[in-house]
Amino acid sequence: MSSRLVVGGSDAPAGAAGGQLPAMHVLYGSQTGNAEGVAEDAAAAARSHGFAPVVSALDDVDTDALAAMQRVLVVTSTYGEGEMPDNAELFWQALAAETAPRLETTDFAVLALGDTGYDGYCQAGKMIDTRLEQLGAHRVTPRVDCDVDYEDAAAAWVADTLPLFAAVEGIRGESAVADVAEPVTKPARTRSQWNRKNPYGSTLSVNRRLSSDTSAKEIRHYEFALADSGLDYEAGDALGVMPINDPALVDALVDRLGIPADAAVTGKERPFSDLLLHAYEISTPSHEFIDEIEKRAGDEELSHVLRHGDKEALDAWLWGKDVLDLLLLEPSVTFTADQFVGLLKPLQHRAYSISSSPLANPGSVHLTVASVRHSSAGRDRGGVCSTFLADRIAEGGNGGIFVSKNKSFRVPANDDAPMIMVGPGTGIAPFRAFLQERQARGASGRNWLFFGDQHRASDYIYEEEIAAMSDSGLLTRLDLAFSRDQAEKIYVQNRMIENGAELFAWLEDGGHFYVCGDATRMAKDVDRALHEVIATHGTLSTEQAADYVTKLKKEKRYLRDVY
Ligand code: 2AM
Repeated sequence: MSSRLVVGGSDAPAGAAGGQLPAMHVLYGSQTGNAEGVAEDAAAAARSHGFAPVVSALDDVDTDALAAMQRVLVVTSTYGEGEMPDNAELFWQALAAETAPRLETTDFAVLALGDTGYDGYCQAGKMIDTRLEQLGAHRVTPRVDCDVDYEDAAAAWVADTLPLFAAVEGIRGESAVADVAEPVTKPARTRSQWNRKNPYGSTLSVNRRLSSDTSAKEIRHYEFALADSGLDYEAGDALGVMPINDPALVDALVDRLGIPADAAVTGKERPFSDLLLHAYEISTPSHEFIDEIEKRAGDEELSHVLRHGDKEALDAWLWGKDVLDLLLLEPSVTFTADQFVGLLKPLQHRAYSISSSPLANPGSVHLTVASVRHSSAGRDRGGVCSTFLADRIAEGGNGGIFVSKNKSFRVPANDDAPMIMVGPGTGIAPFRAFLQERQARGASGRNWLFFGDQHRASDYIYEEEIAAMSDSGLLTRLDLAFSRDQAEKIYVQNRMIENGAELFAWLEDGGHFYVCGDATRMAKDVDRALHEVIATHGTLSTEQAADYVTKLKKEKRYLRDVY
């Protein structure tokens, strides 16, 4: 195979006139910024391979523009259980449609980011990869799927894939290069020195319960000091927190396995119990671990669920069970330290929507987190990171943090634009940040908050702050939905519908509509309510209302941070 590395300048293919280089379109679908980060790295690498990289969110590309692209790298994460990230949804609708154009002149490669812990692993990348081929595009190299520890695999994909495009270019011949772009000399992206692999050890200065003791929920407010870390963030970003596991669970595992706490593990510097504490997921069992237990434990129920059940049946069986519960199914099952660690997944950070604006809180970053706690089989259990924050870093203690950018989730660039925020429960977090941000900026746009939870008396978190924002006029409108304070349930979407005429008027005035919180039920119901409000008050058909919502999304005026 003749391979030719295009290095730009006089070496650029014939079609590339006037100092133009073959364009490399790097298209990303990103929910939390990881895929976007990889896309930017890929663009930098493309530049050094003699391409002119053009980076875009998938939703910013229509299919006709795609058809004119000769070289396309797609980097996309998958959101929820196999869905497209929000900024790839419109692209996918157009690509999947029967009217999508043929893509015979497009060479492409797909990198899919995902999480094997969810159904529909890397599904968004898989669907785009398959559909591009169906439409006649030429796959330069097989798709690569990455699990949560994606960095090394993504870097390898970038390094391996770019030369292949250059090689294809050589085979196609120079005159085939029509899709060119100006080389842009962009300064290398200033990446924060703090990241997943190198978190900043920050002092937790505040750990305070927000919901009252009588609440069914424990929602807490945290403040981390930034000191001279140089760690900066914007309202709308998320904060990655590296948890440390519960030492009591580690002790119980060590005990059950009969492996000495200081046992060595091949290839690891830390002793066994230290690894369990800091390096591996010991709450949620991995698929590999579940399969191994099934083979060895002879537990009929588990075998039945694995062999005859679907994912739902397995989830139901697994609900509330951690690694220790599985080990306790059959006391005779033993592992060596190496075997055991080999069956665990690396401990991941957890990302939380930041609830402060840096303009209003220089030197600190705030989180609003519900502690996950429950008790089963005579043992108290908890969410790995939410209990780490609540119980295991004392005020004054240290936690590893880094910023996870969420560039699309921002207050309106136009300070005069109305802002509508729907954030029940801990979904209020980014909106506290947005409101602080708008206040600090002196933004004159109107602000409307929909908030709710179970009971006003125990769950109205940040009540004083919200009341002050109302009194000062920063909050133009506040609608509350306490679901269990009356016989019938009242949810935020009920309040949206009750106030539909005004809500529609805000949208017509250029309002931006934001949703944060539960993805599985709340965000879907809020989306339905939004369609209903638009149809009713805009006197539009169902289809026209859907088009209106699509337009909002295209204009980046319907943004969600849902999980
Ligand atoms: P519930 O628990 O009383 O049903 C924050 O968790 C709030 O969201 C609670 O008041 C909860 O009400 C409510 N909630 C539950 N399901 C919801 C849904 N589908 N849409 C909107 N809010 C919901």
